Amino acid sequence: MNEVKAYLSKVAAITDSRMNDLLPPPETYPASIHSVMRYSLFAGGKRIRPALVMASYEACGGNFGDDKPVIAGAAIEMLHTFSLMHDDLPCMDDDDFRRGKTTAHKAFTEALAVLGGDALCIYAFECLTKLDRIEVIREIARALGTGGMIGGQVIDIESEGKKVDKKAVEYIHNNKTAALIRTSVKTGALLADAPQSHLEHLTAYGNRIGLAFQVIDDILDEEGTTVQIGKDAGSDRQRGKATFPSVCGIAESREYAKTLIENACAELRFLNNSGPMLTAIARFIETRIS
Ligand code: IPE
Ligand code: IPE
Ligand code: MG
Ligand code: MG
Ligand code: MG
Repeated sequence: MNEVKAYLSKVAAITDSRMNDLLPPPETYPASIHSVMRYSLFAGGKRIRPALVMASYEACGGNFGDDKPVIAGAAIEMLHTFSLMHDDLPCMDDDDFRRGKTTAHKAFTEALAVLGGDALCIYAFECLTKLDRIEVIREIARALGTGGMIGGQVIDIESEGKKVDKKAVEYIHNNKTAALIRTSVKTGALLADAPQSHLEHLTAYGNRIGLAFQVIDDILDEEGTTVQIGKDAGSDRQRGKATFPSVCGIAESREYAKTLIENACAELRFLNNSGPMLTAIARFIETRIS
C-alpha cells in the first residue's frame, strides 16, 4: 500500500507540473474560465489514471517519466476532471463537495462549471495531438463517448429512483468509470508499442480494476464520511442511485470487488512479475478508503 502511495505522489508531481505548463496561466483573459479549470484540476485527486498510464508503460518496457506517457496521463486527468465537474452539477448529482473543496459550480457559477469542464476536455485533446499517435486519440475518444463514459452517465441519471438489476448497474459502471480506467492502462501499453497479446491481457485487467473501482466508490459513498472521501457521503442513497450496494448489499459488493481484483491480477501473469506496480495498484483499489 505504501509503495502505491509513493508511486501516486511521484506521478502526481510530474503530471501536475505538466498540466500547469499545458494550461494557460490563471490570469490569462478571460481569467474566470482559467481559474475554474485550475480550481478543479489542482484541488487534489489521487491521480490514479495517470499512474495507470505510467505503470502500464513501464510494464511494457518503457521508462518511468518519459514524456509521452506524462502527456497522455496529463490529458486523461484533465478529461477525468471534466467528467467530475459535470457530474457534480445540479442537473446531474447536485453535489456540494469534491476533492475536499466546494464544487466548482458553487465556488464559481454553474455556467463556469459547464464551460470549465468543456474547456478541460478540449485542452486535453489538443495535448494528445502532441503524441502524434492517432490510435491513442481514437482509443481515448471512444472511452469517453456515448459508448463509454457519457453513455454510462446517461443511464446512471435515467436510472435514479428506479428499481434496477445487477446487469443494469454493471452496464452503468463499466461505461461511466471502467472505460476511462481501461483506456489509461491501454494508452500506456500503446505508447510502449506493446504487442497485441499484451494489449488483450491489459484490456481485461483494466476493465476489471475499473469495475472494481466503481464498486468500491459505491461502498465508500455508503460507509465513508464526507471528510474522509472529500465528497458528499450518502449522496447515492439520497438520490436513489443505481449502485452495487443498492442491488446486492455491502458484503456481496465487497466480495465482488475482491473477485474482480483477483481476476485482474491473474491477467498479469504473462508479464512474469515485470509489472509489479500494476498488481499493487489493483490491490490498492480494493482496499482504498478514499
Ligand atoms: C471519482 O474518481 C469518480 C469515479 C469515477 C468513481 P476518483 O476516486 O479517481 O477521484 P479523484 O480523481 O481521486 O478525485
Ligand atoms: C461518476 O460516478 C463517474 C464519472 C464519470 C464522473 P459517481 O457519481 O459515483 O462519482 P462520484 O462519487 O460523484 O465521484
Ligand atoms: Mg454520478
Ligand atoms: Mg457523483
Ligand atoms: Mg460515487
